[in-house]
Amino acid sequence: MCPTRRAGSAGPFDITGVANVKPNNPDYDSFIDIIRKRRSVRRFDKGRSISREVLERIAEAGRWAPSGANVQPWDFIVVEDPEMRDRVVEVFLRQADRLMKYAKGFPSVYKSYLNNTVAIFIVLGDRRWNINFPHGVTPESEADYRQNNENIFYCSIGAAIQNIQLAVTANGLTSAWLSGGGEQQTNDELSELLGYPPFLRAYGTIPIGFPAKDVSSRYRRPLEQVIHWNRYEAEKFRTDEQVRFYLESLRPFAMYRNKSELGEWEDFEERLGEWQEAFTTDRTNPSGKLP
Ligand SMILES: Cc1cc2nc3c(=O)[nH]c(=O)nc-3n(C[C@H](O)[C@H](O)[C@H](O)COP(=O)(O)O)c2cc1C
Repeated sequence: MCPTRRAGSAGPFDITGVANVKPNNPDYDSFIDIIRKRRSVRRFDKGRSISREVLERIAEAGRWAPSGANVQPWDFIVVEDPEMRDRVVEVFLRQADRLMKYAKGFPSVYKSYLNNTVAIFIVLGDRRWNINFPHGVTPESEADYRQNNENIFYCSIGAAIQNIQLAVTANGLTSAWLSGGGEQQTNDELSELLGYPPFLRAYGTIPIGFPAKDVSSRYRRPLEQVIHWNRYEAEKFRTDEQVRFYLESLRPFAMYRNKSELGEWEDFEERLGEWQEAFTTDRTNPSGKLP
């Protein structure tokens, strides 16, 4: 069997089932490179623009996302007209004000950077399509399946947003993933402004622009901590105390610092204290006891 090349694609597109398991796999290398480079950037270069062709390429990536029962419960509003963009930004400035007022304690960012976007993708989700997912036939199973249908819906929307962000990166641009559009008041304002029925919801908003600063890296848990081979490895369980430590002490730094490993921080020991091992090795829970 020989690998085939899809018209218009850059590399070999193997639909024959012959896996490329060679140690050096250029397809994987460029794929993982895009994945690693995808970043949440909240500062863009001013006064830039891009063509609709590029924006269509980005939307095309979203279109190919997987979804439960292939219902594709999304629509993408691509705001690229500067006047409309400014009005969308106003909605998000008000959203950010409410976040500061009503959700204190979260390290939120002032959203004026949205003024410098070349486009804003609004990913709408339509929950009516959930009827296509499995439904229970008894009251208990109905509740169980209904909850799982929510999961299927959100994962599908997330897959589309992820594809869009990756395509942004592959086109040399950068973006962020804003969940604030999904709040009731913000969604009402967006639906009024953009003309969509209010039962659709802006689950993800993706401002796109040219990066104004280097944000090439961000904290990631070590691979060996994330992988559980064949069964859940209890030594890798993250304890309640660890979750709380992240919330109370680490979150603003882990969210915004330009380093993938916490050990690279100059103030690593001071910031992490007794939590160094839990955050940098595969032994988050040395006792192996589970709650
Ligand atoms: C479901 C979800 C919601 C998010 N919501 C916001 C948001 O409202 N505002 C924001 O600035 N970033 C938001 N982010 C971006 C995260 O803060 C970011 O992905 C994380 O800090 C890791 O940074 P990185 O994307 O640069 O790797 C969100 C990400 C996800 C997956």
